[in-house]
Amino acid sequence: MKDIVPSPPAVVRNDVAAVQALFQKNVVPSYGRFDIVLSHGAGSYLFDVTGRRYLDLGGGIAVSALGHGHPAITEALVEQSRKVIHTSNFYYHEPQGRLAQALVSLIGPGKCFFCNSGVEANEGLFKLARKFGHDEGRFEIITAVNSFHGRTLAGIAATGQEKVKKGFDPMVPGFRQVRYNDLAAMRASLSPATVAILVEGIQGEGGVTPASPEYLLGLRQLCDEKKLLLLMDGVQCGHFRSGRFQSFQRILEGVPGGETFLPDGISMAKSLGGGFPIGAFWVRAPYADLLGAGSHGTTYGGSPLACAVALRILDVIQREHLADNARQVGGFLKTGLEQLARKYPSIIQTVRGLGLMLGIELAPQIPNLPGDSAKSSATRFANLLHSAGLLAIPAGATVIRFLPPLNLRQSEAEEGLELIDSVVARLAG
Ligand SMILES: Cc1ncc(COP(=O)(O)O)c(C=O)c1O
Repeated sequence: MKDIVPSPPAVVRNDVAAVQALFQKNVVPSYGRFDIVLSHGAGSYLFDVTGRRYLDLGGGIAVSALGHGHPAITEALVEQSRKVIHTSNFYYHEPQGRLAQALVSLIGPGKCFFCNSGVEANEGLFKLARKFGHDEGRFEIITAVNSFHGRTLAGIAATGQEKVKKGFDPMVPGFRQVRYNDLAAMRASLSPATVAILVEGIQGEGGVTPASPEYLLGLRQLCDEKKLLLLMDGVQCGHFRSGRFQSFQRILEGVPGGETFLPDGISMAKSLGGGFPIGAFWVRAPYADLLGAGSHGTTYGGSPLACAVALRILDVIQREHLADNARQVGGFLKTGLEQLARKYPSIIQTVRGLGLMLGIELAPQIPNLPGDSAKSSATRFANLLHSAGLLAIPAGATVIRFLPPLNLRQSEAEEGLELIDSVVARLAG
């Protein structure tokens, strides 16, 4: 493997300033980046160009399902790239068919469409919904306040956060937001033009907020009653992160009626490719042929290479029982975070989430939180965690998210808790 995947050339390695200068001069500054220049990774750890090691509990925002440098991903990339990387969707190839079959068997009767990112998967669902309602003049999709569905024009119109919309008016018409986990508000908001409801099973960017079982079951009933499509964005909370393939399966465990619950469409991305770009949506059988030949497509969607990687990841997840691992290690991490919240109530207010999708809500005022006061407390807190050697992801202004690899070990979760404890103890002291 060494000959096939050589180390990257040492052009700008060990030079934080040089890499940052390349970005400042040449990269559109659309991201607020942390002051870290990463070099490589191994398992649950990332290393920066100065050789500093970080425990990666951010997982590249729920992407690095198997951590970094996993040999199964490298092997799949090498093996498949020797055969064929890309064919276009004018032709059939086995990896796409097999991946679709695997996803269908994990969810339920239906079909899959492949694309390259989460927002594209959502775009596909939006088009599906418009097609579904077209002949009746219905087009409106209701989403939730605090949701996040991606950064294209329709993605930001669907997203329930003003900050992503600012400066990009006018919004794509046909999207409205109502309060999350509020079934009565959803029912009241429907109009004759409504065609679909789209929600995350666990809101991610909005602050790690799971849907309640009653909400999900109620949405299903409402959609059946009003002939609406129930669409779920599983981009961040899906792919075994909750301890089940889709978060709704975990949320509805043991709830009467829960085992037969199915939405009409699910978007996927992130952990599906473990870092190799791939997105997908699944659509339930009655609607699976709505998007006929010529109605939707993308050049790279479901390439042999992307599908081979996704298939290999699924194989590792199943062979190594990583859903159970997410549940167990996630449970351990959550219990540890809850203990920290009890120990330091002036810093950590609440702990939320399921499996390896966890969030801590910081107290509104942390008096001696260092850093630029123009930055959110979540960003400033994340900086402290980074300095302690732990990567975590802010969600909104006051929540820190943990979305680590699904194969995180308990010892690594313990190490993470110790690092968080050290940061919080200093702030509280
Ligand atoms: C719930 C959800 N939907 C959609 C997206 C957009 O995915 P992508 O960035 O791959 O387009 C994200 C990204 O964070 C997400 O969290």
